[in-house]
Amino acid sequence: MLQEDEQIMRIGVLTGGGDCPGLNAVIRAVVRKGVATYGHEFVGFQDGWKGPLEGLSRPLGIAEVRGILPRGGTILGSSRTNPFKIENGVERIKENLAAQGVDALIAIGGEDTLGVATKLHELGVNVIGVPKTIDNDLGATDYTFGFDTAVNIAMEAIDRLHTTAESHHRTLVVEVMGRHAGWIALHAGLAGGANVILLPERQFDVDQVAGYVEKRFQHQYAPIVVVAEGAQPLDGQMVLHNQELDSFGHVRLGGIGQWLAEQLEAKTGKEARTVVLGHIQRGGTPTAFDRVLATRLGLQAIDAAHEGDWGKMVAMQSTDIVRVPLADATAELKTVPLERYAEAEVFFGS
Ligand code: F6P
Repeated sequence: MLQEDEQIMRIGVLTGGGDCPGLNAVIRAVVRKGVATYGHEFVGFQDGWKGPLEGLSRPLGIAEVRGILPRGGTILGSSRTNPFKIENGVERIKENLAAQGVDALIAIGGEDTLGVATKLHELGVNVIGVPKTIDNDLGATDYTFGFDTAVNIAMEAIDRLHTTAESHHRTLVVEVMGRHAGWIALHAGLAGGANVILLPERQFDVDQVAGYVEKRFQHQYAPIVVVAEGAQPLDGQMVLHNQELDSFGHVRLGGIGQWLAEQLEAKTGKEARTVVLGHIQRGGTPTAFDRVLATRLGLQAIDAAHEGDWGKMVAMQSTDIVRVPLADATAELKTVPLERYAEAEVFFGS
């Protein structure tokens, strides 16, 4: 029910950084509750921070969010634009918000997008943050939507790879996403029964990995090795796709799987191949878990905006959706604790 005497706000919504399944579910929940319960108006900013920076927007009402719940990606588009790396970026954002009569922003993103949101809030912009990333590496929230979908995609791939690896007596190395945090590798590897899982959090000994692989062959099974893109060998470095940095200073990773397969083939004498899952992990329809999480985060985000509780990020803690200071989200990256890795190690090589 709409309440009388409530101040109607015009709220901008944007999605920044790498897309992930569930973004549209957040947008839908924000708009559906925002319009129906509070009577607020919305504007969709396009392509992350590029939208408010360049005044690129599109209408965002109930009609625009119909049917988007199961759709992957984001109807608003995304980018890795960093307004703090652009001359007068903050002033331009403030001017464009004022020109479009926008009172507040709901920013849906990972550490980079929310890092910008935190700074903008400190500079007087009304912002609410919603955490997203397939990597599940944001602090202050137990889970980010997109992660469950990515894990299920990777698990299904591993299930399929077991049978072909066994048929050809090959090692199959599966490279999954995860720059600094190995949550996808850990969960997909555990769920898919991988024989070795390698994470960015702990450097690996390639001879030990070759030992696990040989042991698995002795059991008449073919080994599946899951490696996060950011994993590194002892005394080694991350394998980069190229040296270029994006506007948040990130390198593009890729190649550890191929490197490892070559090493394992040379050390074991058994053929080793690589599968790089890449953006398949980010595409397509979200799982039920991610749809529900994204929807609940969206509902809490519009409540926070309606109450003027600026500078907050909505988060999942246990089974509750809570609000935490935006700065907490990016204060520390949530990596895999070594005791969690030890749980997976029980199954290595067997
Ligand atoms: O942060 C999400 C993520 O998918 C990472 O796992 C990966 O390293 C990165 O984005 C890839 O980004 P891009 O699609 O821009 O290459």
